[in-house]
Amino acid sequence: MENINLSEEEKWWGDKHLHQINGFWFMPFIIPRIHRVLAEFNPLPSDVILGSFPKTGTTWLKSLIFSIINRSSLDSLVKNNPHDLVPYLEVQVYGDHQESSDSSTHVLSSEEDQDTTRIFSTHIPYQLLGKTLESSSGCRVVYVVRNPKDTLNSLWHFANKWKMAEEAPWEMEEAMEKFLRGTVPAGPYYEHVLGYRMASLKNPSKVFFISYEELKDDTKTHVKRLGEFLGCPFEEDKEVEEIVKCCSFEVLRNHEVNKSEDCPAWFPTPYNSFFRQAKVDDHRNYFSDEAIKRIDAFTEEKFHKSAGFVYGI
Ligand code: A3P
Repeated sequence: MENINLSEEEKWWGDKHLHQINGFWFMPFIIPRIHRVLAEFNPLPSDVILGSFPKTGTTWLKSLIFSIINRSSLDSLVKNNPHDLVPYLEVQVYGDHQESSDSSTHVLSSEEDQDTTRIFSTHIPYQLLGKTLESSSGCRVVYVVRNPKDTLNSLWHFANKWKMAEEAPWEMEEAMEKFLRGTVPAGPYYEHVLGYRMASLKNPSKVFFISYEELKDDTKTHVKRLGEFLGCPFEEDKEVEEIVKCCSFEVLRNHEVNKSEDCPAWFPTPYNSFFRQAKVDDHRNYFSDEAIKRIDAFTEEKFHKSAGFVYGI
C-alpha cells in the first residue's frame, strides 16, 4: 500500500470522472474498495481468480468457471446471474455498503472451509494485484482478453445504457479518444492486458491466458483445457458439451434473471445489459474505416512492436 500513488481526477464523460492509482483509472467509488482488496485480501492456495478488462467476456467466463468447478450445480445458472455466482473482489466482496459487507463476510467465511473452491473476479490490473496473487502459494488466475475494437464497441454500448446516458450520450469519437488515451474504467486497456500476459508467460501453470475469440471459435476444446488447469479435468465429452451449452450466450441470456431490467445492488446497470450481441468483429457495424485504421495502428505499436504480442488487429 505504501507505493500507491493517487493523482488528480480526469474527466471520463458527461459529469463522470475517473481517478488514477499507479497509472490505472477507476470510477471514484471503486478506489477505496481497491485499497481494501490490496490491504486485506489473502488468497487461499485453492482460490480461483478471474481477471479481465471490462467488456471482454467476464460474464461468460464466470459462468464457465463456476460450472467447471461445480459440475452438479448447473441449475444455479438458471436462478442466478453469473455476477452473483462469482463476485467481483473490488465491488461485492470488499464493498463499502451494507449489502456488500454482508456478502463479503459470507463469501470470505469459506476461508475456513478448504473443501470449497472460492471463485472471485476482478478488473484490478496485475500491476496492482500481482503481489497479492503471488503471495498465495497456489491460487490460480484465469485472464480473458478481447480484441480492442470489440472491447471498445462493447464498452461504448454498455455505458450508453446507463441512466446518465439518457441526458448525455457517450459519443463514439469521444469514447475512442478516451480508450486510446487509457482514461476508461480499469484503463489503459493495453497495459491491463500486457500485465496479465506477462504473468502468464512467466508462470503458465498459475495464470491461464485466453482470448474471447479463441473461446468463441472452439469453446469445447478450451473448456477442457480450463478443466485441466483448474485441477478438475473432464472424463466425458458429454459433461463438457453440457457446460458449453448451459453457458452459451443464447441459453444464458434467455433466463429470466438475465433478462431482468432490475439493477443489481452493486451496480447501476440492469442485469440484461451484460448480454448484447456476443459477436466477434461487431465493431465493423459501428466504426468507420478511418477509426479502425487508427485503433489498429495503436494496437500494432502497443502490442505487436513494443511487446511482441501479435493480437488484436
Ligand atoms: P457485446 O457487447 O459485444 O455483445 P463482460 O461480461 O466482460 O461485461 O463482457 C460483455 C460482453 O460479453 C458483451 O459483448 C456480451 O454480449 C458478451 N457475452 C455475455 N455473455 C456471453 C456468453 N455467454 N457468451 C459469449 N459472449 C457473452
